[in-house]
Amino acid sequence: MIDWLLARSATGLEAGWLHPQERREARRFCDPRRRGQYLLGRHAAKQLIAARARRLGQKAPAPCALRIERTGAGWPRALGADGEPLNLCLSISHSGDLALVAIDASADGAIGADCERVEPRSASFSADYFTARERALIAGIDPAIGASLLWCLKEAALKALRCGLRRDTRTVELRALGSTGADGWRPAEIALAEGGTLEARWRLLDRGRLCAALARAGAQAPRSSST
Ligand SMILES: CC(C)(COP(=O)(O)OP(=O)(O)OC[C@H]1O[C@@H](n2cnc3c(N)ncnc32)[C@H](O)[C@@H]1OP(=O)(O)O)[C@@H](O)C(=O)NCCC(=O)NCCS
Repeated sequence: MIDWLLARSATGLEAGWLHPQERREARRFCDPRRRGQYLLGRHAAKQLIAARARRLGQKAPAPCALRIERTGAGWPRALGADGEPLNLCLSISHSGDLALVAIDASADGAIGADCERVEPRSASFSADYFTARERALIAGIDPAIGASLLWCLKEAALKALRCGLRRDTRTVELRALGSTGADGWRPAEIALAEGGTLEARWRLLDRGRLCAALARAGAQAPRSSST
């Protein structure tokens, strides 16, 4: 199951929760906005990891003992106090002063989370990044929501594949959008150019101003729960 959290603004975060390596990394950001995003994403990830441990009746790890590392390819992973990767996968996304973070402790696969402001995208943007089939699929939806959810689902899928925008966005193609599920997330099916599909979910948050998507590369569809 994917646990997720939408967190707002890094200002006012209590001190002492950063791992020394994260503190060093945070100092390297020249842009305060980007530094704030880095901090907020890590803070939210540690909250999710602690909440999951408590739910399982385990002792929550001290936040400063956990490290959310950026791997060489950019995708994040959580390291425990012993410096070894925790047995879970993690994804982070930022939009302004909001961060969407998701963790999944399933044994296999990787996850992707993305959040995007709901806003119109130009015809040239759609032509460059969406396939004709996708443009037809979202044609009946409010244009700002349709384009935002499609972009959001693609970024979540590309993160779950751990390649990000190094890969052509048209090689992960939205094939189907389902109706609302019991948990508020709507299912979506994404086909990979190399064969196979990837299950995803999307929903609006922040009073309809933000589109959020979760995707999982692996066997199971992403059931989700908020913390
Ligand atoms: C991953 C990527 C799609 C994120 O795009 P974005 O919308 O700008 O940013 P978001 O806020 O949604 O996501 C940022 C988070 O994605 C995660 N991320 C970065 N690279 C990732 C990858 N290859 N796979 C999965 N997740 C990745 C990081 O956790 C990052 O947050 P952090 O730096 O605070 O830890 C984009 O940065 C990318 O494609 N990067 C790799 C290729 C690249 O550098 N291309 C240059 C632009 S084409």
